[in-house]
Amino acid sequence: MIKTLIAANWKMNTNFSEAQQLTRDLLSSINDDALVETVICPPFVYLQEISKLLEGQSIKIGAQNVYFEEKGAYTGEISSSMLSDCCEYVIIGHSERRQFFGDTNEIVNKKLRSAIGHSLTPILCVGENLEERENGDAEHVVGAQLEESLNNIEKTVNLVVAYEPVWAIGTGKAATSDIAEDIMRFIRSKLADIYDNTFADNITLLYGGSVTADNVKDYLSQPNINGALVGGASLDAQKFQDIIDKAGEVAPL
Ligand code: 13P
Repeated sequence: MIKTLIAANWKMNTNFSEAQQLTRDLLSSINDDALVETVICPPFVYLQEISKLLEGQSIKIGAQNVYFEEKGAYTGEISSSMLSDCCEYVIIGHSERRQFFGDTNEIVNKKLRSAIGHSLTPILCVGENLEERENGDAEHVVGAQLEESLNNIEKTVNLVVAYEPVWAIGTGKAATSDIAEDIMRFIRSKLADIYDNTFADNITLLYGGSVTADNVKDYLSQPNINGALVGGASLDAQKFQDIIDKAGEVAPL
């Protein structure tokens, strides 16, 4: 059984007091017995403070990115060892990093190694853009992202994979649950090729892209989707709580 995981990617949003308020609002509404694991990923500068608010609570915290070098003259960057002080998770290879900051599969591979080496759980993001989907290349692109990103990385329990089709992110045009399920099935079989069936059967796979309380159950009712990575709707405590509640209604016991 794979526990349902709902992760919030706040992206470059909130000021400090909004970040604290959003966290407090979530803490006051979250159900501790939930069948759903909840992770929030605030901007770097708030991680330490938000992690203090979450001490002893069921909500986990993650970062949105990491740099692969251990330390040194890398102005503006944050290492895995720095994150490991306050985070359990880290998003790696988000399409916005790939699009705006030049993260290639090779860089993603280095970031994964660094994160896993520091016992962080990476949420590895993969997904095709609109042109790639329209050309029928979605599986090819996602397959290459997985192969190259995981190249020579030993299998680890510390890995989550998120499928986020670029055309569904922040657009309101969510992939249908059938489209998402098709790719998730493909991702699981690719992971079985790269590692083995046991690994593939037990890994948590998330869907991301315009997830709301209205559509989350459609995704989670699919056999190969174990959770969601939520952007816009995670910035409103009530909307995010509604997503968690709906997820709980279909979560495996
Ligand atoms: P939206 O939920 O805003 O589409 O963002 C998805 C996403 O990019 C999460 O990482």
